[in-house]
Amino acid sequence: MERKEFIKTCGLACLGTTALMTMLQGCASSNYFAKTSTSGKLITIPKSEFTDTSKDKVIQRKFVLVRVEKFNYPIGVYHLGEGEYSALMLQCTHKGCELQPNGDFLVCPCHGSEFTNTGVVQNPPAEENLQTFKTSTDNENIYIHI
Ligand code: FES
Repeated sequence: MERKEFIKTCGLACLGTTALMTMLQGCASSNYFAKTSTSGKLITIPKSEFTDTSKDKVIQRKFVLVRVEKFNYPIGVYHLGEGEYSALMLQCTHKGCELQPNGDFLVCPCHGSEFTNTGVVQNPPAEENLQTFKTSTDNENIYIHI
């Protein structure tokens, strides 16, 4: 391999690695698992979990993820508006792959189905809406009724 070709190959490898790391960091910061507490069939999420103050500015999260021991999939909790939330099982209704949040939509990495942030199927091959959970709120918390 000539010197010029070697330098070009190394440069491309560096760029590729940098781009991959940036993409992975972006994914990690956008999929936030909220700190919750569970009592019986009630999951409590402090509303403050929708506020990200980890960097120098305050950012409102559109959604958080919740792990529930008895489920094999996380629950996605979306902030829809003033005091309004949706809670969705992130299990694709086509063949059961775990859905990936993508803005206000959920996308299936297996065959491409899409769902809204209220669980309504938008694109096939899935035909059924997502499993949803009732939510309620008070001044401090959001409650998911499982
Ligand atoms: S499992 Fe989700 S689209 Fe097939």
